[in-house]
Amino acid sequence: MPRPRVLSGVQPTGALHLGNWLGAIRNWVDLQNTHDTYVCVVDLHAITVPHDPAKLAEHSLGTAALYLACGMDPERCAIFIQSQVAAHSELCWLLNCVTPLNWLERMIQFKEKAVKQGDNVSVGLLDYPVLMAADILLYDADLVPVGEDQKQHLELARDIAQQRINARFGSEDHPVLKVPQPMILKEGARVMSLTDGRSKMSKSDPNEGSRITLLDPPELITKKIKRAKTDPERGLEFGNPERPETDNLLSLYAILSGKGREQAAAECADMGWGQFKPLLAEATVAALEPIQARYHLLMEDRKELEQVLKHGRNKAESVANATLSRVRDALGFATPG
Ligand code: AMP
Ligand code: TRP
Repeated sequence: MPRPRVLSGVQPTGALHLGNWLGAIRNWVDLQNTHDTYVCVVDLHAITVPHDPAKLAEHSLGTAALYLACGMDPERCAIFIQSQVAAHSELCWLLNCVTPLNWLERMIQFKEKAVKQGDNVSVGLLDYPVLMAADILLYDADLVPVGEDQKQHLELARDIAQQRINARFGSEDHPVLKVPQPMILKEGARVMSLTDGRSKMSKSDPNEGSRITLLDPPELITKKIKRAKTDPERGLEFGNPERPETDNLLSLYAILSGKGREQAAAECADMGWGQFKPLLAEATVAALEPIQARYHLLMEDRKELEQVLKHGRNKAESVANATLSRVRDALGFATPG
């Protein structure tokens, strides 16, 4: 039995934070032991909102280096940069031509981002989910590990594959595209902001104190945790809806210290904030230290990183190009001689 295949990706926009690590990358690290794993840096997605060309390449390489630093192993998975596999753009175009406009207009993330962009909304921002569908469908992915917020985009990818490609251009016995399943991750799936326990930790929050990035130096981590919002009560607990900040900080402690929820809850049940915060800071610094060390090594000497990305790209291309040919044939394009 071949291993089930998974594909996922993160945008190279700004520094990755604890939410990206605990909600996404950390799960990929486990998946690569049991699944045929493909992970990409989705740089084509990053230009759907205004971007700085002087930083794009560096951010893409930095994001790939973080994948490796967090434990992605190029022997067991393909790591690549989306824009370097041309099939993503090409399949996106083919899918664009069969995707109804109103499917895209109802995407929640588009509506939210469009409001933020004001007059500056590009066609690319609207088309973002079709590009994401192309990313997934090119690899015949069985499963797509993503956070809850991406569920609607995944449904769209399934609908495009099933209703717009397979039903029209394939047959029951010979579907053109594999219809993927979402894999919505639970543990660590929602890391909340340090300044508001009711909203997600996010790259786009203007307040940098709301997130800890994977590259924050120890003093900054300690400072951010010291300033993190708490409540006047003594003792930490999980699951009290009146105390979202407490739940979030205790969850982070349970994961980052490696102690797990039960032990963390017992240890902190009667603790005051003055005692807890330094413990959380220490656990966070210790958890990020090996990641940062490996990241800096990879970014100083780029040879290894370049090698990994070249290898990943070759592996990705061979799968992606085969799928693209299948779709071109099904849609009736002339075969290149
Ligand atoms: P983004 O930062 O929105 O590009 O998200 C990249 C990946 O990280 C997606 O799979 C998200 O679901 C995940 N992610 C982003 N923010 C968080 C968060 N605060 N908690 C958990 N997962 C997150
Ligand atoms: N839209 C995803 C996010 O914001 C990133 C992404 C792009 C992705 N293409 C993908 C995730 C394909 C999984 C599979 O998190």
